[in-house]
Amino acid sequence: MSEQGSRIPGFYRLTVDARRSALGERVELSIEDLITLDHGGLDTRTADQVVENVVGVYTLPLGVGLNFRVNGRDYLVPMAVEEPSVIAAASNAARMVRDGGGFHAEADDPIMTAQVEIVGISDPEAAKARIEREAPELLRHAHAALPRLAERGGGPRELEVRTGTDPGRVIVHVHIDCRNAMGANMVNTVAESLAERLASLAGGRSGLRILTNLADRRCVRVTARVPARALATQDLAGTAVRDGIVAASRFAEDDSYRAATHNKGIMNGVDAVVIATGNDWRSVEAGAHAFAAASGRYRPLAVWSAATPIRTGVEGSDDVNRPDDLVGRLEMPMAVGTVGGTLQAHAGARLAQRLLGVTSATTLGMIVGCVGLASNLAALRALATDGIQRGHMALHKRSQAVVRRDREKSKPSVPPTSAR
Ligand code: MEV
Repeated sequence: MSEQGSRIPGFYRLTVDARRSALGERVELSIEDLITLDHGGLDTRTADQVVENVVGVYTLPLGVGLNFRVNGRDYLVPMAVEEPSVIAAASNAARMVRDGGGFHAEADDPIMTAQVEIVGISDPEAAKARIEREAPELLRHAHAALPRLAERGGGPRELEVRTGTDPGRVIVHVHIDCRNAMGANMVNTVAESLAERLASLAGGRSGLRILTNLADRRCVRVTARVPARALATQDLAGTAVRDGIVAASRFAEDDSYRAATHNKGIMNGVDAVVIATGNDWRSVEAGAHAFAAASGRYRPLAVWSAATPIRTGVEGSDDVNRPDDLVGRLEMPMAVGTVGGTLQAHAGARLAQRLLGVTSATTLGMIVGCVGLASNLAALRALATDGIQRGHMALHKRSQAVVRRDREKSKPSVPPTSAR
């Protein structure tokens, strides 16, 4: 992206054409790209190669999340979503986080896990020991099943044997570094290629062989530090809003019913980027909620607290001078890729990735996490102050106006005979 970065003041007030021009100043946009933006990037013929029984394509609005600064770099974030206010709210919250220095994000290596279930085992502990003894050989076999992944620096990394879910069952996990791919196909290939050997070592029969969507070895962790003054509303001081957000976070930590809605607000942002970039949002959703419930109780994926000033002893340091900050932390699995699968067939997804300027799946995952945390901040700030309906309804009215306009257009100019 050019030096102008991800701040584009007044972007929402521009026409669609003017917004495209503003984007064009930051990212090169060809005539084909503009056609892609108009039509969504997937024609019926291509769609027919991607899934079955195709009769057409289904499109969603594509917008750009602004103001995102992640680990010191600016990103224009493509977001595909039908819900009004999600993009505006995330951009608004990203601006507040920007005032505090931007998002800090880190990510695990892109590890996905294959599960091989072996059933009908009489002595699971002995089976576990036999499989563990053969782990190096099994991993070599798994490597051979994915020669191209190894060339790209990825491949199977570790084998883990689990017992205890059922007296006759052993579950073998193979952790695979999928590099820039989401990896489902590769992981399933490994699961299937190892199943018979594992069953024979365990003295049982192979059962299911498939990846787990609880991708807890592929997590992103995001932190945001927002100065209280950036949170202020017309009626409330920033510190009061901060305390309201912290209280809302506690509610989600204490109550699973609230945590579900809190996490839905996070997924508003997460899914919008995951969909725009051509990724499997069902997988990310499944991973997110399984992770949220992994402790045995469904919990929030992001929490907020008031900053505890740390005395660094450095004169003028932020830690000393910003005791009023709000601090947010998000952790969640993030199984997204920048290569492979249908992603390459979808011109809209390819363009979205180019707008974002990211080729690494790990960086994409970190940005997605930041958008999730921004969406959460926006929702909690609204809930802790005016409530969400005011902003929401203003935007909702706009889409209702479109519905009314379309109804008018489709009214027959001459009433049908039966209605006369
Ligand atoms: C609406 O799409 C999302 C919210 O319900 C999230 C929340 O309650 O935190 C506003």
